[in-house]
Amino acid sequence: MSWLILLPIIALVCGSAPVFADDDERYLSCMNSFDCGNITGAGYPFSGSDRPAYCGYPGFELSCINQDPEITIMGSTYKLHGIINQSRTLNVSRTDYTENLCPTLLSNTSLSPNLLSSNSDHGEVSLYYGCPSPIPSGFSAQFTCNINDTDMMGYFVMVNNSVPSMTAPILIPYLTTCNNSVKVPVRQSAIVSILGNPNAMLGAMNQGFDLVWSANDPLCDTCKSSGGQCGYNQTTTAFTCYCADQPRDFDCTESPQDLLKGLYDDGLLWVHQ
Ligand SMILES: *[C@@H]1O[C@H](CO)[C@@H](O)[C@H](O)[C@H]1NC(C)=O
Ligand SMILES: *[C@@H]1O[C@H](CO)[C@@H](O)[C@H](O)[C@H]1NC(C)=O
Ligand SMILES: *[C@@H]1O[C@H](CO)[C@@H](O)[C@H](O)[C@H]1NC(C)=O
Ligand SMILES: *[C@@H]1O[C@H](CO)[C@@H](O)[C@H](O)[C@H]1NC(C)=O
Ligand SMILES: *[C@@H]1O[C@H](CO)[C@@H](O)[C@H](O)[C@H]1NC(C)=O
Ligand SMILES: *[C@@H]1O[C@H](CO)[C@@H](O)[C@H](O)[C@H]1NC(C)=O
Ligand SMILES: *[C@@H]1O[C@H](CO)[C@@H](O)[C@H](O)[C@H]1NC(C)=O
Ligand SMILES: *[C@@H]1O[C@H](CO)[C@@H](O)[C@H](O)[C@H]1NC(C)=O
Repeated sequence: MSWLILLPIIALVCGSAPVFADDDERYLSCMNSFDCGNITGAGYPFSGSDRPAYCGYPGFELSCINQDPEITIMGSTYKLHGIINQSRTLNVSRTDYTENLCPTLLSNTSLSPNLLSSNSDHGEVSLYYGCPSPIPSGFSAQFTCNINDTDMMGYFVMVNNSVPSMTAPILIPYLTTCNNSVKVPVRQSAIVSILGNPNAMLGAMNQGFDLVWSANDPLCDTCKSSGGQCGYNQTTTAFTCYCADQPRDFDCTESPQDLLKGLYDDGLLWVHQ
């Protein structure tokens, strides 16, 4: 009789500590999505905010600054305008060109090789700084900058990716005299409208450009469809599928042998004996 009364009390005292269905903490964490500003529901390969680094692929860490989502690529920060899952596309723009065409630190746009690539609507503009003599108009537009208390003349020049040679040869002798240059991707379709207009240029740069990512996506598809959460183990530098009970290589329906091996690998087997 007394045991019948005690049992519910024990259950109450033990409270929420689940004894049987002890879901893997990493599986639970990676269920969280990254939500910030206009970006909602972002999952693998992205990490950040409520998603620990092991929930994403290296190089896809997002941050949320005053409800502005950002991504850092090769040391430069980009504003994140959108994520399109179906085409694995990111829409980003450089944060150092938000206000004007004159950042203090000039840097090219370098993208992680093999992880991010441009899509077909990819164009590029080159900005030239500290050019001693005027560049023929018609091919370029002029702007002025004051960087580090120095006034300088700048020009931007379109690069037509369909016809690279169209970067008019007559400009080259002028451009090589400039002190510095920076390449910035812009949507090819935006280039026509910005030709010759520095303000439109800034607007077009802030519209963002598209990047297509590649980060073990087929493995993630397998993992998700077997009920797991995708992730990446930075220690073993391998894709990992976090399943409710424990991580697997890429599929939550993997055989028990793999399951035992996984427990040994995780140093957890002795706990269960
Ligand atoms: C969110 O999207 C709306 C509509 O596209 C846009 O007007 C707004 O500026 C965006 N907000 C941010 C923080 O980017
Ligand atoms: C995008 O795909 C990821 C991974 O499959 C998923 O976790 C996320 O919920 C999806 N986001 C949206 C907005 O569909
Ligand atoms: C401005 O000064 C900083 C610090 O000395 C320097 O790193 C940077 O390259 C300078 N910018 C330009 C455009 O010269
Ligand atoms: C950007 O790349 C070009 C060559 O593609 C180079 O001439 C230029 O110096 C680079 N600019 C900076 C700021 O590193
Ligand atoms: C180019 O840079 C040098 C060294 O910083 C500077 O003395 C010169 O004035 C610059 N040229 C122009 C046209 O800004
Ligand atoms: C780039 O070249 C292609 C092919 O000649 C042309 O159709 C397109 O209009 C050009 N784009 C720009 C921005 O000049
Ligand atoms: C990127 O997002 C902005 C803001 O939502 C949008 O106006 C622009 O068209 C998008 N750019 C691309 C290349 O999809
Ligand atoms: C990464 O793998 C190591 C070795 O198998 C394991 O000890 C660790 O728990 C794993 N980390 C994550 C986040 O999965």
